[in-house]
Amino acid sequence: MKKLDSNSSRRSFIKKTVLGTAIVSSSPLLFARTGNQLLLMKPRSYATNKFAANDHINLALIGSGIQGCHDTNTALQVPGVKLVAACDLYTGRLDRAKELWGNDIFVTRDYREILDRKDVDAVIVATPDHWHKKISIETLKSGKAVYCEKPMVQKFEEGSEFIAAQKETGRVLQVGSQGLSSLGNEKAKQLYQDGAIGQLVMLDMYNDRYSAQGAWQYPIPPDANPDTVDFDTFLGQAPEVPFELVRFFRWRNYKDYGTGVAGDLFVHAFSTLHFILDSNGPTRALSTGGLRYWKDGRDVPDVTMTLYDYPETKTHAAFNAAFRVNFIAGSGEGYGFRLVGTEGEMQVGSDSVKLVRSKLGQKPTGYALVAYTEENQKKIIAEYDKNFGGERSSDLNLGETIYEAPSDYKGGHYDHFNNFFQGVRGEKKIIEDATFGFRAAGAALLANESYYSGKPVHWDPDSMRLMD
Ligand SMILES: NC(=O)c1ccc[n+]([C@@H]2O[C@H](COP(=O)([O-])OP(=O)(O)OC[C@H]3O[C@@H](n4cnc5c(N)ncnc54)[C@H](O)[C@@H]3O)[C@@H](O)[C@H]2O)c1
Repeated sequence: MKKLDSNSSRRSFIKKTVLGTAIVSSSPLLFARTGNQLLLMKPRSYATNKFAANDHINLALIGSGIQGCHDTNTALQVPGVKLVAACDLYTGRLDRAKELWGNDIFVTRDYREILDRKDVDAVIVATPDHWHKKISIETLKSGKAVYCEKPMVQKFEEGSEFIAAQKETGRVLQVGSQGLSSLGNEKAKQLYQDGAIGQLVMLDMYNDRYSAQGAWQYPIPPDANPDTVDFDTFLGQAPEVPFELVRFFRWRNYKDYGTGVAGDLFVHAFSTLHFILDSNGPTRALSTGGLRYWKDGRDVPDVTMTLYDYPETKTHAAFNAAFRVNFIAGSGEGYGFRLVGTEGEMQVGSDSVKLVRSKLGQKPTGYALVAYTEENQKKIIAEYDKNFGGERSSDLNLGETIYEAPSDYKGGHYDHFNNFFQGVRGEKKIIEDATFGFRAAGAALLANESYYSGKPVHWDPDSMRLMD
């Protein structure tokens, strides 16, 4: 890995403030002993094409729930994109689709009617996880591009079929872990590759939540009933159960439809991690946790802790990753994604990266010296001073740098859709294809496999297979 020198790189950044002082434009000497600083990331430049009405990408949405609405609202901000159709199994959401995107869009409860339409170029699949594979593959086979929400698959065995369908159809597929398209993730990748934290030794990821909504207790609308909700179709290949609105609107809480916190939340972190490191994924996982509070009929844990082993590869040393999600956070909410290395650490977000650089101290303190004679202490200190210099760890903090996205940044979600539509127009390579999507989802599913089996599980990240 390339080492940094104090003059290296990114002189184009504008030094916005230094400890609260005014904007200056001098080139900061990154990674030198500059103390604390706040730097603006370079703004993204977007194409300014104007599209004629007949050159729009016609978009359809399948699964017009919470994320389907957020996805579509973001997708429609990208120039040259028009929503023409929406599909959902609850009629109230089709009414809402018309409220949001106009009365003239086509709506249906049967997604196959969307696939039959010749005027649809691209489809967002934002259904519950157990429908992702079937609908996405059928959509690819109908000749349309797919933006499939994460996790790409609900089960390990779905991955290879998904990858094969993308290859065979040659159609565009983007998986929806939008964070990796963000300026923050891109900056973290650049810093990592430049050696900003030295050799990576650990990833520490946590997601604390402290609300009913955060624990997936989503509201159920007053007009939901067997006439307005197509429960049988919702079940799909899942086991047959009597009509139950809680299962329909809070499907994440059940293994039959969702993927637990790992598939829902870890998968974002895996996508970011694999993107930053150019990694294929872990080789081993060990998970524990339990259902501690939300005993509302759910069969997935509300506290999950999973440890992963990553092997040495060309792009990273062997390291360990700890993932933790807690739906009863007690004192508040928070998210952390901290890459820890031999020369510092990075806290990575979509819009910011906090880099703390330091140097490992060698010299002992009085704590360890106390048990030696004064004469030996002097000799030991002299030896350390000669070999390592006079500094202790506490002297060696090289300062913090916070990189922030410009205030008018459109965000990773926009960038992810922009990349998707550029892919549809044949202008850009897709950032999160089926292979990438399966490596992120597969790594997440290892947590469930280990939790439910009560054992560590092994995975080959290159061939994407569970190992005995
Ligand atoms: N990228 C992100 O940050 C992000 C955030 C939230 C959710 N998600 C993902 O988005 C997906 C949807 O999550 P959500 O929170 O929007 O759930 P949701 O329950 O709000 O919406 C899902 C919708 O899909 C519909 N649906 C179910 N089966 C269908 C089928 N066969 N045909 C057509 N419609 C069907 C349901 O009626 C429902 O309205 C999940 O896979 C989730 O993991 C991603």
